[in-house]
Amino acid sequence: MQTRAKLLSKDPTKPRGEGARKGEHTSHLMELFEEQLKDILWAEKALIKAIPKMISMATSEDLILALTDHLKETHEHISRLAKVFKTIDKKPTTVKCDAMEGLIAEASEMMEDCEKGPKCDAGIIAAAQKIEHYEIATYGTLREFADTLGLIEAESLLMESLNEEKAADLKLTEVALEGVNMEAAAT
Ligand SMILES: [Fe+2]
Ligand SMILES: [Fe+2]
Repeated sequence: MQTRAKLLSKDPTKPRGEGARKGEHTSHLMELFEEQLKDILWAEKALIKAIPKMISMATSEDLILALTDHLKETHEHISRLAKVFKTIDKKPTTVKCDAMEGLIAEASEMMEDCEKGPKCDAGIIAAAQKIEHYEIATYGTLREFADTLGLIEAESLLMESLNEEKAADLKLTEVALEGVNMEAAAT
């Protein structure tokens, strides 16, 4: 039975991913992998500028802490992506992510329209969770691509970021349920 990697390779005798790493054969999946890496790198870099604006508008201490912790992780995601690019012998470059640009623009509009307080905190959580879900979708897809391409190191790096994005999303849900939403409902 042919493995998924063999189905993708022009030379099925090659170990998984080997040809693609050396540039002897770039499969369509490898092209997509690289394109999606550029997309998420652009998104992560945009978030380095966007998250501090959310922090400056937040009033819940738990929300400020969650966003501050995740900002540190976002820096780590960027360095991790550079390592992933290295596993495929590519320089870390970006392509504008229209989806993230839109999500960040929505968050900015929401914050411009609201005063600091519980309503704004709940709105920031909503916006941040939409952003986390985009990242979870992208890292989940990239991890699966890396698995199919036999890029073991890349897969494990992407898995680490995927887990941190999921944890950040869960933390935001916790912050909402443990106070912010009730406070917004009461004001
Ligand atoms: Fe991230
Ligand atoms: Fe994130």
